[in-house]
Amino acid sequence: MADMVKLFVNGVEVEVEAGKNLIDAIGAVGIEIPHLCYHPALGADGNCRMCLVGIEDGRPPLVPACKTPAMAGMKVLLDAEHIRKIQRDVMELELINHPTDCPVCDQAGECRLQDYYMSYDRRQSRMTVPQVVKGKKMAFGCGVVHDQERCVLCGRCVRFCRQITKTGELGIINRSDDARVNIFPGRPLHNRYALNVVDLCPVGAMTSADFRFQQRVWFLKKSPGVCHGCARGCSITVDHNREKEQEARIYRLRPRHNPLVNGYFICDSGRMSYKAEEEGRLNEARHGRLARSVDQALLAVAEDLAQGGKITFILSPDSSLEQMVTIRALAEKLGATLSGFSDGWIIPGDGDDFLIRDDKAANRAGLELLGIDCSRTGFTAAVEAADLVVNCNNDLGRSLSAEELGQLFQSRRLISFASHRREIDNQAEIVIPVASWSEYAGSVINCQGILQHFPRAVVRNQPPMELVELIARLGSPLQSEADCWQELARLPGLPADPATIPTEGLQLNDNEAAHDQP
Ligand code: SF4
Ligand code: SF4
Ligand code: FES
Repeated sequence: MADMVKLFVNGVEVEVEAGKNLIDAIGAVGIEIPHLCYHPALGADGNCRMCLVGIEDGRPPLVPACKTPAMAGMKVLLDAEHIRKIQRDVMELELINHPTDCPVCDQAGECRLQDYYMSYDRRQSRMTVPQVVKGKKMAFGCGVVHDQERCVLCGRCVRFCRQITKTGELGIINRSDDARVNIFPGRPLHNRYALNVVDLCPVGAMTSADFRFQQRVWFLKKSPGVCHGCARGCSITVDHNREKEQEARIYRLRPRHNPLVNGYFICDSGRMSYKAEEEGRLNEARHGRLARSVDQALLAVAEDLAQGGKITFILSPDSSLEQMVTIRALAEKLGATLSGFSDGWIIPGDGDDFLIRDDKAANRAGLELLGIDCSRTGFTAAVEAADLVVNCNNDLGRSLSAEELGQLFQSRRLISFASHRREIDNQAEIVIPVASWSEYAGSVINCQGILQHFPRAVVRNQPPMELVELIARLGSPLQSEADCWQELARLPGLPADPATIPTEGLQLNDNEAAHDQP
């Protein structure tokens, strides 16, 4: 528990964390101090002067809040006329050479300069001289597009590449009103986290080539999610929208601050993984060569399961805990075996010492907690002994070659529940499309043993059914989310109600990996 102190803001007493800089300390009780260059993950640089505040204790009349720690009894002034004046002056300085074309800027709606102009300035420009001309639409690499004219030289992007990725691709060159951010000649951005500079940039100077001009941000619905790109399970925001009568679409994924899991950042590959939610999806159920409704196909699956014989269910290490436990319950009822074989999801050496993990599965820890065998030998034995194999959305093509899969399934019946079109499903007798992670609510446990719950983000025009619902309809004893959590609550540390899982997740165990935090 942090030490707390009482201080005064504009004469009103508030209790804040001792020693924190005033932006964060006072911000935590809902009082905003405007700032451009400071970012909690990058520290105080003190270059923008937007955060100047008054301290009534004999200090100089104005101090930068980003570099001033909160102390007991401090009298902080935010609204005195001389502070308002300095804020207007800083805004005027920032806007001297800034293009005044917010309506066509991609950052409009989430731009600090625009917001601060409305809150602290609102004056006509006094400038009569032409604005300095700088670089536009500069491809900096890794899908980052830079506009030098919009840049306020806060240095966040430069510090990110120096302090966080330690790759140092960006610098500020020249002086005075000719100063600008640039890459070094022939050395574009080249790191796996580069697109974070787009989020860090407080204005429209760093944009993503993928997202820019695709959608006005005020039309986007923002849903909390968990990235399924690797075992880190970064907290994200899923920005999506349905335009008029068209299909709902994800436009971008952004990091959602989570001090336990990913801090303020995500990797570029996870950020771009939304495309896989949109592309290559399986849309139609099939029985044999004939297209069927989901109901017809499910009836055929139920008949196949009722025939008896040896059945093996294959689970995906990307599935939610709710899906896993529902399938496990059905398998137990039918006397079937279970396998979570997914060796190919692990890419040795691909992870790094920051966020990215070798294991590209979001919930392998869930499989382990539920005691589901993931070994290759267990998988081979279970499949070879089975008359019927039910693959529950495990992309087996990651772990086995087409030839190996062909041999395994040539003489036994295969049923596939799949969110995406995959080669293996050509061999399946029955194929049924299922929802992918952005289309259902669920829970996953990451590589640090942190349990996170996420709501359903996207509702398609014709939403694919959720795996839990299909398995419940096939007779799983677990028929609802409440049933799932009653079962999951038997496991050590798991709650009985996912609504009680904190936003940043619940630490389930205190092993070494648990301390592996960004
Ligand atoms: S590009 Fe953005 S983040 Fe970088 S210095 Fe300019 S305003 Fe700051
Ligand atoms: S580190 Fe892993 S979980 Fe995080 S954004 Fe990247 S792929 Fe997704
Ligand atoms: S935020 Fe304090 S000087 Fe920029």
